[in-house]
Amino acid sequence: TSPTHRTCSVSASASPLTPKQPFVIGVSGGAASGKTTVCDMIIQQLHDHRVVLVNQDSFYRGLTTAELERVHEYNFDHPDAFDTEQLLDCIQKLRSGQPYQIPIYDFKTHLRCSDSFRQVNASDVIILEGILVFHDPSVRNLMNMKIFVDTDVDVRLARRIRRDTVERGRDINFVLEQYAKFVKPAFDDFVLPSKKYADVIIPRGGENHVAIDLIVHNIESFIYSAPGSVYTGVDFCKKLCGVS
Ligand code: CTP
Repeated sequence: TSPTHRTCSVSASASPLTPKQPFVIGVSGGAASGKTTVCDMIIQQLHDHRVVLVNQDSFYRGLTTAELERVHEYNFDHPDAFDTEQLLDCIQKLRSGQPYQIPIYDFKTHLRCSDSFRQVNASDVIILEGILVFHDPSVRNLMNMKIFVDTDVDVRLARRIRRDTVERGRDINFVLEQYAKFVKPAFDDFVLPSKKYADVIIPRGGENHVAIDLIVHNIESFIYSAPGSVYTGVDFCKKLCGVS
């Protein structure tokens, strides 16, 4: 029987389709390593599924007036710069199928928008991206797959200079001082040591199409595994019938 002639007998009422918990992927790596590009490529290839992207950056604490006055001395690369409790709450809620209102953070003002949020809904796949997403064990332990984007330090610094001066409206001297004083030491003290938790290390970030194809294939095997626990009934049905 050719795939197109198969009849699909799976329906939500016929089999006990217990909703499967979403697949949680952590994507870490140094600042400006290309984490966002890797996430975008995974999301693009998973277009048949519901995927939500959560950025750790959204959980930066807004600075107080006193901290804003001395912003040159503030370490945005230290784990304490993030509200990890809130991030944990977000991933736990999304993982249990509940929606969440993600804060919106402004890199120009170093503050959170007080009156607007990004509403995200339950999904098949949750991707959590950020420099320190492997640092906290409670957050890390919620991940089914951990990816580390490994990009050369000179590439990261060049990208950061361009991004911070063009997109974040920063002065070049501020960018270089911040890099030497906080970004590089924090990379050595917190980001690099967390690389050991990764299941997959992607050299060259978003340019590495082979690695991304392998990762997507692995995620899809999870989504289509164990018929009784399939979350996306329609997609699973299509897969069984051999139709795209
Ligand atoms: N940061 C900053 N000012 C703030 C908040 C954060 O300069 N008010 C910087 C921190 O110093 C940190 C970086 O933002 O190094 C974290 O963002 P990054 O991981 O570089 O952003 P992404 O776009 O997620 O990274 P990528 O380029 O890898 O996609």
